[in-house]
Formats: sequence, structure tokens, C-alpha cells
Amino acid sequence: MIDKTSPLPIYYQLVELIKGMIEKGELKPGDSLPSEREYAERFKISRMTVRQAITELVNSGYLFRQKGVGTFVAEKKIEQQLLGLTSFTEDMQSRGMVPSSKLISFEIVSSPAYISEQLNIQEHAPVYEIKRVRLADGIPMALETTFVSANLVKGITEDTVSQSLYDYIEKQLSIKIGEATQVLESSIATQQESQYLKIKKGSPILLIQRNTKLADETPLEVVKSSYRADRYKFMITLKR
Ligand code: GLP
Repeated sequence: MIDKTSPLPIYYQLVELIKGMIEKGELKPGDSLPSEREYAERFKISRMTVRQAITELVNSGYLFRQKGVGTFVAEKKIEQQLLGLTSFTEDMQSRGMVPSSKLISFEIVSSPAYISEQLNIQEHAPVYEIKRVRLADGIPMALETTFVSANLVKGITEDTVSQSLYDYIEKQLSIKIGEATQVLESSIATQQESQYLKIKKGSPILLIQRNTKLADETPLEVVKSSYRADRYKFMITLKR
């Protein structure tokens, strides 16, 4: 289990051991972890070493600590491939999860200059501003603000955006979506983000801005999303 003659540091061996138990399902999300003292006694190692291993697992999102209660196994992160241009609805459905949206605001506003520029429309032209919490199996994953030109995509309703926007554009309007650029940045949750995502203010989040174009190159949307960093990770395949 823990090999003291191994050149691998003991804390690292414990990290791998606990990770392995989580990956094999021997420790499940929500399970509480044995105490530092129990681990120390079981493996005849110091509590400092146990603490170092647990801190590393907390930092990498496998475990979380609850003050005064203990340490628990975290929910598995959703791994999102950065390959195809997919919608939130498709992403969740392909994982067997049920997507839903909580509409926070939905209005047609006069386009601010920085949005007009990106959508290639005139300043003050009408745009939909749609703010939604995106959920998977009822758990908030991201807070998303979408800007779409109202002259380009007609007839969006509260009902449409409570479901899939891409589905409406492609299936109802038969408009072909082309490609997108996406920028990822790390940040921490503001008061508003923490409230909607049900996380503590200051928790790590991933900010994503997606600029999508139609197949004919017309800019379609500018979307700013805040994803929970404790539930999401992004994966990209690099080819040489
Ligand atoms: C993701 C993207 C958004 C896009 C949305 C469409 O969340 N980050 O840029 O607008 O998918 O999702 P849906 O079709 O489920 O509304």
C-alpha cells in the first residue's frame, strides 16, 4: 500500500492511493474521509504527511473540507472537450445528464458599442440580452450572458431560451451555425455569481467568452459564461 523504501515521496503515494479509491468508486462523492490520525496510524506515517496529501487532493478538486465537520469526496468534474462547437444542452445530454436553464433576465436592449463591434452591427441596434443559469441534473454549472442581434435571429422567446438556443436557430430557423472562438480565463466568483451558482463568494471560476459565427461568417453571438471550477475542467487534444 505505502512503500517506505520507494523513492516516491510518501505523501505522493497516499495521494495516488486515495485518488485510485475515488476513481474505482471505493470512495464516492459525499463520503467522508477517515481522519488524519486514522490515516497516520493505519500507514504508520506522520500526520503532517497525511495533511500534505489531503491538501493536495483538496487543491486539485478531488476532496473538499468543511470547517468543523471533516473532509469529503467531491463530485467528479465534468470534462469538456474543446473540440467541436457544441451547445450546453448537447454537452449535458451526451453525458446522460438532464440540462435545464433558469432564466434570470431576457430583454431586447440597445446594443452597447463593444457588443456592436463584435456582432458587426450598428451601435444601438436591437440585441437580445439573455442571462441564464445553466444546470445539469438540477445543479448550477454556469452563469451565462448571451448577446444576439435581434435583426438576425428573430422570434426568440423566454420559452426558446429556457431550452436550447442553438436548437431553435438550427431547427426552427434553419440557420447554419459555423464556428466559434473561445477564450478561457480563471477568476473568482463575484457576489452575484456565487449567489446563482450556489458557491461561496471568491470561489474559483472559469470565465469563458465565446464568439460564434454562422456558416456564412455573419457573427451570431457574444457569450460570457462563468463556469464553476469545482465542477468543470476543459480538455484539448493537441496534434503534432
Ligand atoms: C454553451 C456556450 C454558449 C452557447 C450555448 C448554447 O453554453 N458557451 O456560447 O450559447 O452553449 O446552448 P443551448 O443551445 O443549450 O442554449
